[in-house]
Amino acid sequence: MEERNQQSKKAKIHFTRLIIAMVLLTIAFVVINLILFKSSDFIYHQLIFLLFYLGVSLYLFLRLFMTFQIFIRNEALLEENTKQHMQELKLFTNNLIKQRKEIQKMLKETTELSNKLLEQNLKLQNAQEKVSQEREKFAILFEASQLIASSWDLEQVLPRIMELANKLVDFKTGRILLPENGYLTIKCCYGYDKNMTEVSKVKIGEGITGIAALNQEIIIVEDVLNDPRYIKEIDDTQAEVALPLIYQGELLGIFDIQDTKPFAWSDYHENISDILVLFGNFTAMVLHNSSTYTELKNSYVSIIKALAKAIDAKDPYTHGHCERVKDISLQIGRKLSLDPRDLEELEFAALLHDIGKIGLPEAILYKPGLLTPLEFEVIKSHPTIGANMIGDIPFLERIKRIIEEHHERIDGTGYPQGIKGRQMDFLAKIIGVADAIDAMMTKRPYRSAQNALFVINELERCNGSQFDPLVTEIAKTIVIDELEKMNLA
Ligand SMILES: [Fe+2]
Repeated sequence: MEERNQQSKKAKIHFTRLIIAMVLLTIAFVVINLILFKSSDFIYHQLIFLLFYLGVSLYLFLRLFMTFQIFIRNEALLEENTKQHMQELKLFTNNLIKQRKEIQKMLKETTELSNKLLEQNLKLQNAQEKVSQEREKFAILFEASQLIASSWDLEQVLPRIMELANKLVDFKTGRILLPENGYLTIKCCYGYDKNMTEVSKVKIGEGITGIAALNQEIIIVEDVLNDPRYIKEIDDTQAEVALPLIYQGELLGIFDIQDTKPFAWSDYHENISDILVLFGNFTAMVLHNSSTYTELKNSYVSIIKALAKAIDAKDPYTHGHCERVKDISLQIGRKLSLDPRDLEELEFAALLHDIGKIGLPEAILYKPGLLTPLEFEVIKSHPTIGANMIGDIPFLERIKRIIEEHHERIDGTGYPQGIKGRQMDFLAKIIGVADAIDAMMTKRPYRSAQNALFVINELERCNGSQFDPLVTEIAKTIVIDELEKMNLA
């Protein structure tokens, strides 16, 4: 193609040159003929020039004709090529249009696919978020289930339940109410002002909370102002949930929550009421266990007090000893800021610490004089006898250990096991000191009661060997306080 274009271009140049050559030759012929006409009249010369002119003209004409033929042929070829190129170009353009349509189609499909992927991704994210929320809910429910057995003290466990509930379903204020003589009384509050904890009792059967308690059914209200059951307590409350806490068909309480706007969870948590009911069941079990524990504890307390009286009654010289050891031990425990459960166990263990003496021969136990080494060995068996008497009651497990260790010494020279301080229960160390203080300050058959100064000196002398240093320091302050009271009196 390119070569044909070049040939056509050359033919055009050549054609132009031939035309110019013929014109120049004609001009030369005319000029020369005019000159010859002027200088000579010879026809011969004119004929020669004419022949020469005609020959050259014929040659040039033939060249011109051939060049013209080449030009025509090249032009035809060029036209043909152009047509071919146009067809190719048209075909190419059509292909381009076709490809463009295909690309547009592919682009559309890609966009749709991309949109579908985005949609799927969004669904996946929502699903992941939902799974995460469900996992969090189950973690909360699991922790709530752990609370059932973790503590019997409602003062400790109910605030934690309220915190967990707030994580489970976001709310502004909440409370747990317990039924009592036809009313619901508030046991635990969350998010209220201090004064609101003293809100009067709710009558069972009145208001959303009272009706939920009466019917033993959960009530969820998103707009309390349009609910005839609602009784106004807090100005800006808009939504409320009252969840009865039921164990084995018995109403143990009401879990009541409020918010200043519709609960956010109501739109997307379809099974929230089921989860709330499950959470309520755990809370009901906590209440039931606490109630059972309280009843059981009260029974044990009665037995323990009866046993303690029996111990004291058996020994006329140590009458009231167990009660006094309990008082001194609790004073020490409170000054050490022990938690309520430790104080409770300290109280029971102090009352029962000498229970093993019930099993000792009275001749040895009430002997007015000093004991022989053999008799003392018998006396030394009372911590073990006492521990065995307690047996394997789970409630008294720690108390059993304290009874067995109350005559151990921190240097390992005590009895019955000769264990050292770090192996002893800390409450046993307190009772050991309290026991010694009361023994010194009580009249015995073989000596009179020692005064407080003697007791303080004795505590200092045995500090670090028989007695724990921390307990000794606290005990000394108690004895000093007693001494000051006596001096003041
Ligand atoms: Fe004892």
